[in-house]
Amino acid sequence: MRCQHILGLEHMSAANIERVLNTADEMKKVTKQDIKKLSTLRGKAIVTLFFENSTRTRSSFELAGKYLGADVVNITAASSSVTKGESLRDTLLTVQAMGVDAIVIRHSASGAAQYATKYVDSVVVNAGDGAHEHPTQGLLDLLTIRQHCGTIAGKKVAIIGDVLHSRVARSDIWGLLKMGAEVHLGGPRTLIPKEMADMGVTIHNRVEDAIADADVVNVLRIQLERQKKGLFPTPREYARIFGINDERLKLAKENVLVMHPGPMNRGLEISPDVAYGRASGIEEQVNNGVAVRMAILSLTLADGVQA
Ligand code: NCD
Repeated sequence: MRCQHILGLEHMSAANIERVLNTADEMKKVTKQDIKKLSTLRGKAIVTLFFENSTRTRSSFELAGKYLGADVVNITAASSSVTKGESLRDTLLTVQAMGVDAIVIRHSASGAAQYATKYVDSVVVNAGDGAHEHPTQGLLDLLTIRQHCGTIAGKKVAIIGDVLHSRVARSDIWGLLKMGAEVHLGGPRTLIPKEMADMGVTIHNRVEDAIADADVVNVLRIQLERQKKGLFPTPREYARIFGINDERLKLAKENVLVMHPGPMNRGLEISPDVAYGRASGIEEQVNNGVAVRMAILSLTLADGVQA
C-alpha cells in the first residue's frame, strides 16, 4: 500500500486514523530518546514546499524526516523561483525531476495538494491548503486528546473562534466525528458557517454554551490576515465576548484540556493565564506534531497508509 497521499481526514478511515495514532505513540518514545535517529527512511528524499509561512508545521516535518533518517530539503516561496513568476505546476515538476520520494506542500489555495498529485509521482502530504484541510494538525490534535482523555469516543470537544478561515477546524471535525467524539462550535455567527451543521456538529453563538461541560476546548487563531471587514467587532470586544479566559473555562469539565494550533494571538482569542495554565496542552501538541509527522512519513514511505 505504498505511495498513498495524505490530503485530508475527510476520506481517511477511522481504522487508518487509529493506525497513525498508534504509530505516533511509538514515534513519541523516539523523540524523547537521547539519540533520535532511526534508519526507517534511509536513502529517501523529502521536500517541504511552503508557499505560506509556518514555524511549527514546517520544522516538525523537517525534524520528523531527519529523525527517520531521510534527507530533507526545504523550499519556501519567498526564497524560490516563485518570486520570479514560476507557476505551481512548474515548481512541482522541477522538484519531481530531482527524484524526491515525498513532497510536503502548504499553499493558500484549497485543493493545492490534490492538484499536486496530478503532476508528481511521489507521495504528497498536505501541510495546509487554504481553508480546506490540515490533516497532520488534525491527527496531532486527536493524539493529544487521546493521550489526555484516554479515549476520543464520547468526549465533548468545543472548537472556538475563527472556524470560517480554519483548515485546522475542518480536519479536526472530520477526524473527531470519525473517532466518535461530540463536536460543538462556538464563536461569532459571522465566523461559523451555518452549513457546517450538516457535517454533524452543534453550533452555538454563545461561547459559554459551547464549552459547558466540555472535555476539550480547542481555541482557534483569529486569522487577522484573512479577515474581511465586519466579520468581528473590535479585538477588545472579541476578547470580552468570545475570548477563552480562566473565568469562562470554569464552565468546562474540571480536568479540561485546552488546545490551540498556534500561532496564538494572546489576549485576543486566549488569555495568557489559560495559554500557560494548568489545563494547557499547547506544548504537548507541538511535541505530538513531530511524532505524528514521523508516523505519517514512515507509514506512507515505508509501510503505506490509505487516506
Ligand atoms: C495553523 C495553520 O497554518 O493552518 N497553524 C499551524 O499549522 N500550526 C493555524 C493558524 O494559522 O491559525
